[in-house]
Amino acid sequence: MTTLERIGPAPSRLGATALYDWDYLVQEDRVHRLIYTDPAIFEAEMTHVFGGTWTYLAHESEIPNENDFITRRLGLRPLIIVRDMNGTIRALYNRCTHRGTTLCRWDKGNSKSFQCPYHGWNFLNNGKLRGVPWPEGYAADLRDAKYNLAQVPRVESYRGFLFGTLNMDALPLREHLGAIAPVIDEWLDRNPGGKVVVCEANRFKYKGNWKLAYDNSCDGYHVAYSHRSLLETENRMAGDNAKGMAYYRDSPDTLAMYMRYTGHGNHYKDKRPNLEKRPGGLWALEAAQPGMASYEADFIRRYGRERAYALLDLAGSEPVNINVFPNFSLLGNHIQVFEPISVNETNAIWYGTMVVDDAGELGDAVTDINALRMRTQEAFPNFGEVDDVANFEQVQRGLMAIEDEWVYMHRGLGIPDRVKTHADGTITAPATDEAFMREHVKEWKRLMKSRLNLAIRREP
Ligand code: FES
Ligand SMILES: [Fe+2]
Repeated sequence: MTTLERIGPAPSRLGATALYDWDYLVQEDRVHRLIYTDPAIFEAEMTHVFGGTWTYLAHESEIPNENDFITRRLGLRPLIIVRDMNGTIRALYNRCTHRGTTLCRWDKGNSKSFQCPYHGWNFLNNGKLRGVPWPEGYAADLRDAKYNLAQVPRVESYRGFLFGTLNMDALPLREHLGAIAPVIDEWLDRNPGGKVVVCEANRFKYKGNWKLAYDNSCDGYHVAYSHRSLLETENRMAGDNAKGMAYYRDSPDTLAMYMRYTGHGNHYKDKRPNLEKRPGGLWALEAAQPGMASYEADFIRRYGRERAYALLDLAGSEPVNINVFPNFSLLGNHIQVFEPISVNETNAIWYGTMVVDDAGELGDAVTDINALRMRTQEAFPNFGEVDDVANFEQVQRGLMAIEDEWVYMHRGLGIPDRVKTHADGTITAPATDEAFMREHVKEWKRLMKSRLNLAIRREP
């Protein structure tokens, strides 16, 4: 018995691909306001983008043990991400197969089964229907696979980061990540043991389209303007002029930092070449936080200068933004996830990360490093993200000017030798260019146009 169910267009609706002229809406230097404001385009995105490509779901460290689960979404689909009783990670649809209610109403927990709160149908955590109240009332065979929970047919992990797709034709995850995977490796491997544990989150919700956040994820053009108050605060408190994102001020495009587009909508902004390569080079960039000076003095006393600064660098925010289309960023030491709610509402969730030191390389410093990481991780979401979400909301309002139709993204376009395409197909440009956005909207357009081979899966 096959457990895959192919998904066609919704009954009696035109397929989304027939609704619009996508080449008109997404041009080389501009996009039409409708892609941010039209509810029908949003609905199509939930399948063509959030079902058609690899979408970030969760981190393995959030479900470390058998029977652990968390509830998340894939586009608008409610999911239960579970490590089942046999250790298999699954993304179950959090939707009872009886009359459709949300099955599990907890954020997280540990359970071998889920009982529907409406009429009591009970499902094992591998998705199989286990039993129903008063089964003698059913003539149908409840062992039929169609009563088992739907599941995302493909869930894969890249070094702990879990992604899912409904698209049976999508490349394997590692191939899809391509040239961005080694950058994720570097982000992980700067920590002893090469892994992190995900912590609780700072949660923001803004009244704007989800793409406004992804369009900003590699944007080096706005920093000196939108985050001016943060830059001034960081540098005023520190007494010098080289803290936080200070390198965006004078002439950011002449510095060693750059952006690289790696394909499939993915890109990163690498600010690491700006750093001094020495123990403490990253720590020196950290803006003043309460308690920092006393931790620093204590580390020097305990470990000596050189070792102390190498340890303190593990608490510093890694200066690289790694963005995996459509909903995932590694930003400093955070995982940021964009979660669409409607055409003009989005959750922007910032998960902190902790260093884990299974081999004991960090000794008793690990607890202090993680305490300091919490301080450095609180800084940007509280003092920087507020600037960004204010921009997103104001863009959404601006786009209500119906007759003024175009959004431009042509910074860097047409200037000889500024945007470079390399032999491996990746594209680099100076830090303030909008090349990353021109490229990821092409991927968006490709997905919106394509006929996708989508499916869901059920246990037989
Ligand atoms: S809707 Fe779940 S048991 Fe009825
Ligand atoms: Fe920003």
